[in-house]
Amino acid sequence: MNMDIVLGLQWGDEGKGKFIDLISEDYDITARFNGGSNAGHSIERNGKKITLKMIPSGIFMKEVQNVIGTGTVLDPVSFKKEILNVKQFDETLQPEKNLIISKKAHFVLPTYKLLDVFMEESPAYTTIGTTKNGIAQAYSNKILRQNVRIGDMYSPDFKERVERILERDYQFLTDAGMELPSLESICEEFFDAVEFLKQFDCTETELFLNKALKNKQTVLAEGSQAALLDIDHGTYPYVTSSSTTASGACSGLGISPKKIGEIFGIAKAYCTRVGNGIFPTELFDELGDEIRIKGNEFGSNTGRPRRTGWLDLPALRYAVMINGVTQLVLTKADVLSGLKSVAVCTHYEWADGTIETNAGTLPENAQPIFKWLAGWEADFSVIKDASALPDALKDFLSFLETELEIPVGYLSTGPGREQILKMK
Ligand code: IMP
Repeated sequence: MNMDIVLGLQWGDEGKGKFIDLISEDYDITARFNGGSNAGHSIERNGKKITLKMIPSGIFMKEVQNVIGTGTVLDPVSFKKEILNVKQFDETLQPEKNLIISKKAHFVLPTYKLLDVFMEESPAYTTIGTTKNGIAQAYSNKILRQNVRIGDMYSPDFKERVERILERDYQFLTDAGMELPSLESICEEFFDAVEFLKQFDCTETELFLNKALKNKQTVLAEGSQAALLDIDHGTYPYVTSSSTTASGACSGLGISPKKIGEIFGIAKAYCTRVGNGIFPTELFDELGDEIRIKGNEFGSNTGRPRRTGWLDLPALRYAVMINGVTQLVLTKADVLSGLKSVAVCTHYEWADGTIETNAGTLPENAQPIFKWLAGWEADFSVIKDASALPDALKDFLSFLETELEIPVGYLSTGPGREQILKMK
């Protein structure tokens, strides 16, 4: 049996949560392989909305087993809040029964979030526009081999090791003049959340997942953030600190690339971005504002307004290529409904020629070249059959299929859980 993967192909917020929620009921296991509480997967159930940060989307299906894999970083304080929130959302759920955590995932310590705030505000550092969840600090301490892992919480010297790191960071931040909560209160909240975490099965998730695949169980790897925010392949330095791509799913979960099946790539019909960084097709006019309002483009994690712009095919081609995407899932085309025409950036032109595939290294003077396509006036949110879609939208989808050389497998027709069409 193979593992399928769902990934965002732009700068995040493509609507992964909704799609994963839809298909996860077809899988035995859903697994998170990267990132931490910086993610925000919005899910609608029974008319109520909830945003998941760290917990895989299969948590709402009691028969689905959920895995927080080795490539992730876990903040126990935020995790505890999220679990309590999930239980409040649906009192019948018992996440401690269908969620397991890798012993080798890394902790996000409380001072890491404070360091994120410090670095964002200090002129000595590049301002990235992070979610201030301490993600980069956790991954950098991991690479430095100075961090603590989930499995370490059972060691007798765990408290001592954590306190040493917290004291070190606390001293640094105090010396830098940052106003801080007391170290005692930080420690108390953290160790209390670690006790809460101990009710979950923290185990060798690689063994669990590989055994499951051998026993013909189906696994869905759930990406967070997105391809253009990948630490290696994204628009560095304005990226997150983890591997967000299909190969990140393999390393983050300990699954061989030979065992990958379908790779679903999610993209919006336009682009958005939160935080700083290059965004060549960005709209600065009223239309950009209109798309932001109509598409509710405000960060589900931080509430920040998202920057908006036209679809960027050179960036999308790159994301499709490095991930080996097998099916495109197009979201939010409904937000563009009513526009007489819509633009798509097909390539870039600059002094030395044209750029068809943007590998995140676009020269500064490269100009986006747009193709204008007819817009779709009609509201198609109630359509249940792909053949009944407006002709202009069908043309838009075929144009994307030709340009990207992959089929559009699904089309989201509105924000609701049921508003998604299987195209093929
Ligand atoms: P960090 O992951 O919090 O370190 O933030 C690094 C960059 O990734 C910032 O530009 C964030 O806005 C962006 N980012 C992180 N997580 C998400 C996400 O889930 N959706 C969209 N952008 C994100």
